[in-house]
Amino acid sequence: MSGQRVCVLDFEEEARKVLPKSVYDYYRSGADEQNTLADNVAAFKRWNLVPRVLRDVSSVDLSVSVLGEKLSMPLGVAATAMQRMAHPEGETATARACKAAGTGMMLSSWATSTIEEVMSAMKASSGDGGVLWLQLYIFKDRELTLSLVHRAEKAGYKAIFVTVDTPYLGKRLDDVRNRFKISPHLSMSNFSTASLAFSERNYGNNSGLAVYVAKAIDPTLCWDDIAWLKKHTHLPVIVKGVLNGEDAVQAVNYGVNGILVSNHGGRQLDGIPATLDVLEEVVRAVQGRCDVYLDGGVRRGTDILKALAMGAKAVFIGRPVLWGLACQGEQGVTELLELLKEELRLAMALSGCRSVSEVSRSLVKRAEFTSMM
Ligand code: FNR
Ligand code: LAC
Repeated sequence: MSGQRVCVLDFEEEARKVLPKSVYDYYRSGADEQNTLADNVAAFKRWNLVPRVLRDVSSVDLSVSVLGEKLSMPLGVAATAMQRMAHPEGETATARACKAAGTGMMLSSWATSTIEEVMSAMKASSGDGGVLWLQLYIFKDRELTLSLVHRAEKAGYKAIFVTVDTPYLGKRLDDVRNRFKISPHLSMSNFSTASLAFSERNYGNNSGLAVYVAKAIDPTLCWDDIAWLKKHTHLPVIVKGVLNGEDAVQAVNYGVNGILVSNHGGRQLDGIPATLDVLEEVVRAVQGRCDVYLDGGVRRGTDILKALAMGAKAVFIGRPVLWGLACQGEQGVTELLELLKEELRLAMALSGCRSVSEVSRSLVKRAEFTSMM
């Protein structure tokens, strides 16, 4: 029997005990010295909330509209690859949990469940919310890339999050040491070609995933490929992995529908800023021309509130969902999402915010300034 899980860290602690070491290491790791991995979390502690009082917070509305879809809260699930290594039901369990919690899930191109089966799982389960978006990697094989987009359109996915920070995979030391590969009974389900299924077994003394990514992904990617993608889909396109104002302006100029400020959970280039630290620069550069989202290091309701105050329309979580899956499959992810929802509700009530539209920039101050007051 597991202990009571009262915060996200409790889920990670339990997941660490149940997952095989190489799987836990893959999920947890950041690149190189993992400075950015740690800083994503630390950045939230450099800001304080400055609450307002006496505002009748007996009812707090957490709902938001994201890319034309109503979500029960400004928190969605970021794409994480190979979820069936965490639990036999993998991505289908996550989709059902998102529906129960009334929120959205970004399905990884490197899922261990197909685009269609994840949609079926979401549709068949109870709850009145639930949205699916496709996370897209642009592969060397452009036909194959477009086939994923068209399958997602047909299945009823609502947007494409195209990841732009992974021309190669970052160097995750534990994955090199463990010679990490996908679990032998699984494969990247959305591809029928053997080379993209990641089922080959011999990757030498390296992270198998890094070798696989170098074969699959097109490192020549540039802004014109965003224009190419926009031309081939009627779905909104969001770039995932923008970290500065200049790239944000480029993205707007290329007509994207949204920007996800992300450093891939500290797994790509190490020694770069925490996402919270660059959020405002991106928001300023965009000047309201598209929505701005954030992921990386979100572990508490107060983290969500701080990111909203600094201009994010919504935020996403990656690893916490894997911990929820590892602990208890669908039930674990539902519990995790509800826990964060309740933490956010409490944080908003205690700050005097009755709805997301009442969350303003004046709600946060850099910690060193507030502590001097
Ligand atoms: C990821 N991430 C990711 N991103 C993406 O665009 N496609 C993918 O397939 C994956 N796969 C993946 C696997 C694992 C194990 C992790 C931890 C992350 C990055 C993910 O979408 C997101 O940006 C980060 O996970 C956010 O940081 P946190 O919430 O994990 O701190
Ligand atoms: C990762 C890839 C798959 O971060 O996006 O592991």
